[in-house]
Amino acid sequence: MCFKYMGFPLLLVFSTLGLVRAALETRLEFITKVEGDSETLFEFNFRLLGREHLLNGTMVFHVDLDNKFELSNELFEHHDGAWRPSTIGVCYKACVYLRTIYDKYFSLSSMGSNFPSRTCPVKKGEYYVRNEGVSADSWANYAKTGLNKFILKIKKNNIVYGGFEAILVLTEKGT
Ligand SMILES: *[C@@H]1O[C@H](CO)[C@@H](O)[C@H](O)[C@H]1NC(C)=O
Repeated sequence: MCFKYMGFPLLLVFSTLGLVRAALETRLEFITKVEGDSETLFEFNFRLLGREHLLNGTMVFHVDLDNKFELSNELFEHHDGAWRPSTIGVCYKACVYLRTIYDKYFSLSSMGSNFPSRTCPVKKGEYYVRNEGVSADSWANYAKTGLNKFILKIKKNNIVYGGFEAILVLTEKGT
């Protein structure tokens, strides 16, 4: 599901509220690739390494990621034994997503990855991620403590061409 125009105003509201709420600690529990419906043009081959579950692996883009594609992300909270969609779901043209969401909330450090930031389209090729910790400082204000599932899909005309699904545990810092 894709709540097309909801993302941006919510981002503004939540990033304001976010200043009030203490940062959360994030731990990746699980990550897996989402296969394309018929072909996978964007492969996310990640593993979690070590006790800290650092993110490691490659992203293989078989074509340029440009505005012909849409990126959608969905967030689910685990509650009473079931995954429930949180109200936060955004869906944008690739370049808008990269500019407004990725650069702001998810940017990988330049040390740990050669994935470009502030660039669109992202050229086809292989990008690595090495031993990256994940920080929820900038975006966890949307999420609740506990188990959260994050799904990113890359689509064109409603057909999925790849993505990934991650399960994260958020805890209050210092507890
Ligand atoms: C971590 O990722 C890098 C880059 O893709 C790779 O060369 C390395 O083998 C990976 N390490 C492990 C332990 O999987």
